Formats: sequence, C-alpha cells, structure tokens
Amino acid sequence: MEMGSNLFWHQQDVSKKARQILQGHKSFVIWFTGLSGSGKSTIANKLDRALYRNSVSTYLLDGDNIRMGLNSDLSFKPEDRAENIRRVGEVARLFVDAGIVVLATFVSPYKKDREFVRSLLNKNEFIEVYVKCNMDTLKARDPKGLYKKALNGEIENFTGISDPYEPPENPNIVVDTTMMSASVCVKQIQNYLYNNGYLSKLKK
Ligand code: ADX
Repeated sequence: MEMGSNLFWHQQDVSKKARQILQGHKSFVIWFTGLSGSGKSTIANKLDRALYRNSVSTYLLDGDNIRMGLNSDLSFKPEDRAENIRRVGEVARLFVDAGIVVLATFVSPYKKDREFVRSLLNKNEFIEVYVKCNMDTLKARDPKGLYKKALNGEIENFTGISDPYEPPENPNIVVDTTMMSASVCVKQIQNYLYNNGYLSKLKK
C-alpha cells in the first residue's frame, strides 16, 4: 500500500517533553509478553493500581480487551498477530507521546513483532517483561479453559500448544509466575522502574 506520498507531517508545538513535565514523570511502555494464562493481565493490573496510587498517569492495553474492540477484525494467524501488535505498538507510541506510562499485555509470541514495537520508540522507552510460567502449571491453572480446548483440537493456532512462542532473548525483566505470587512480581517490576530512573520516588 503506497499512501504516504501526499501526506505531510505536522509538527506540534506541545512536545512530548512538555507533556511529561505536565505529568511529572517520564513516559514509556512496559511490554508484558508470555503465554496465555501466565499472569500478564493480573500483574499489569496490580502494577497499574500501585502506579496510580503513586500519582503516575498510566494506561493499560490488554490483549483480550483490545481484541474485542480496535482489533476485533483480527485472527490468531501469524499475519494477524503481527497486525494486532503493529496497531497496539502505534497506539502505545501515541500514549507515550502524550506523556502516559503504558502497560501492554499481549501474548506477542513473535520476536519480530515485539522488535517492531521497540523500533517505534526511543531507546529506554520500551521495557520488555517476560512473564514466564511452565506448561504443566498453565495446563493445571487454565482459568479460561483454553488449554483444555486447544489440547482437544477445538482451538487452532493456540500459542504454546499448536502455535509457537518465541521467548525474549534479552528481556529487561523476567518474572516467573510458576512459583512467585503476582504481588512479588509487581514488587520486582517496581524496583526495576525506581532503580533505573524511570520513576523518581515512591510515595509510600
Ligand atoms: S497475540 O498473540 O496477538 O499477542 P493477544 O494477546 O492479542 O495475542 O490475545 C491473546 C488472548 O486471546 C489469550 O489470552 C486468550 O485469552 C485468547 N486466545 C484465543 N485464541 C487464542 C490463540 N489461538 N492463541 C493465543 N491466545 C488466544
């Protein structure tokens, strides 16, 4: 699709920096990747609450929810997953431009799709969190009943069963929910954010 040739980028007077100053903190993306049921949404939701309590302006983009709205036209085939992540990446970039901290929870099984999102942002604006969990635990937990269905052949292209998952090679943070509680994972991520200068002070 060649559409860009008659378009002109309009420079906007209110800069990202100015918006960050208004918010009182930097803006960046915390990208949670991992298998379905690994705990991405639970952890992100808890972290979101903790950040909110500390006066950080955030927004949570959740795979299941986004697939019920903006991306309701997309399947789980590799090209649709790529489009899912591309659109979400663009949305996340807009939020970062608006001075907001984005928490994004997507299975995002393909390395190249995650790298695309990273490429949209400045260095240090993309924090990759690998939410790890072993398969036996996922099958035992199965809160949505999806592993059971996938194992019975009722869901095609199910990540981890009939579709691949490419773990991040060099994630900023790894949380393993096989043994760790969601609260401990949230603490680990919060520590990373404060120790690496993403957020300046913890109020309580
Ligand atoms: S992604 O691969 O394109 O990043 P996304 O995070 O948006 O996936 O959606 C994953 C959610 O959709 C899962 O948590 C699960 O509830 C549901 N789902 C339904 N079918 C599949 C499937 N074939 N593979 C993975 N998740 C699926």
